[in-house]
Amino acid sequence: MENKTAIADSFGRTFPYLRLSVTDVCNFSCSYCLPDGYKKTGCDPFMAQDEIVRLVRAFAELGTWKIRLTGGEPTVRRDFVDIAAMIHEIPGIRRLAFTTNGYKLQERAQEYYDAGLRAINISIDSLHPDKFKIITGHDRLHEVLDGVQASFEAGFESIKLNTVLLKGLNDNELDRFIDFVEDKPVSLRFIELMRTRDNADYFEAHHLPGTAVTEKLLERGWRARPRVEGAGPAQEFEHEGSAGTIGLIAPYSKDFCKSCNRLRVSAKGALHLCLFGEGGYSLREYLQSDDQIEELQEKILALMNFKRSAHFLHEGNSGVREHLASIGG
Ligand code: 5AD
Ligand code: SF4
Repeated sequence: MENKTAIADSFGRTFPYLRLSVTDVCNFSCSYCLPDGYKKTGCDPFMAQDEIVRLVRAFAELGTWKIRLTGGEPTVRRDFVDIAAMIHEIPGIRRLAFTTNGYKLQERAQEYYDAGLRAINISIDSLHPDKFKIITGHDRLHEVLDGVQASFEAGFESIKLNTVLLKGLNDNELDRFIDFVEDKPVSLRFIELMRTRDNADYFEAHHLPGTAVTEKLLERGWRARPRVEGAGPAQEFEHEGSAGTIGLIAPYSKDFCKSCNRLRVSAKGALHLCLFGEGGYSLREYLQSDDQIEELQEKILALMNFKRSAHFLHEGNSGVREHLASIGG
């Protein structure tokens, strides 16, 4: 990812990539995230379309060129497609991506593509229907797999699959996942389970270090791809016999934060400088009219001075985020 952006921190990192949550609501109940399903907190509404457009315009003028729409589950917002189409029109936005749990994707993939979305990340934590159900609370593996197929047919340029690595739940499926991508031009990412405030016991029971994946891949003749300048924090692996690639996102690994290239804004309009730990800085008061754009940009740039070099999870600074549905992983 090239970095021509004014948004930089005091450690020499630049941030051309914004992950923008459009809702905290999710219709799944993944056991590591929202085991009891989504519950409303607070009474502020999620950002309205005009607030979202102002926010993205301000970021785009500062050099942000990639936006990922996240949630919660972003597609549960009835105006999700309208939001995507509006962002797609904003000058400077060259890459529009979203993350989804795959709900109704088979029916809607084309509509998403037509709105200007070009990159899709689909969560698939198991390739066994019964395990998938245990992990997500929904018996929808086949529906999600049909959605992956529909995404190919719709013409998405980048299809990534996210799999949270879970000891005792899907760690016996590594071979199956590797075989699964063999004939599909997808990038599957294993994500190391992250500890949040709400999942501490679950984390103890199911956290598996990412080295389990690395060892398996090397054993099967996969090679680590050299890191590309400007790439995000995933370590990518490839194999000449496989159309798909496999990546590993290991937030607890040393130097994970050095390649950080993203900022996050919550559905209620708070800028989060890091996925972990800090509470977020509300930008909402600067999103109320079109003539506030400069003020908003000054605020964003000023806040960058507060971005820390790393998350310091190792020093026990962790787990204050209640779950990742509020900030989109
Ligand atoms: N640890 C790792 N990944 C998580 N996600 C949600 N919660 C966690 C967690 N505690 C992932 C989802 C999805 C993405 C949006 O974030 O599985 O792939
Ligand atoms: Fe929903 Fe994603 Fe959380 Fe699962 S991980 S409950 S799909 S927000």
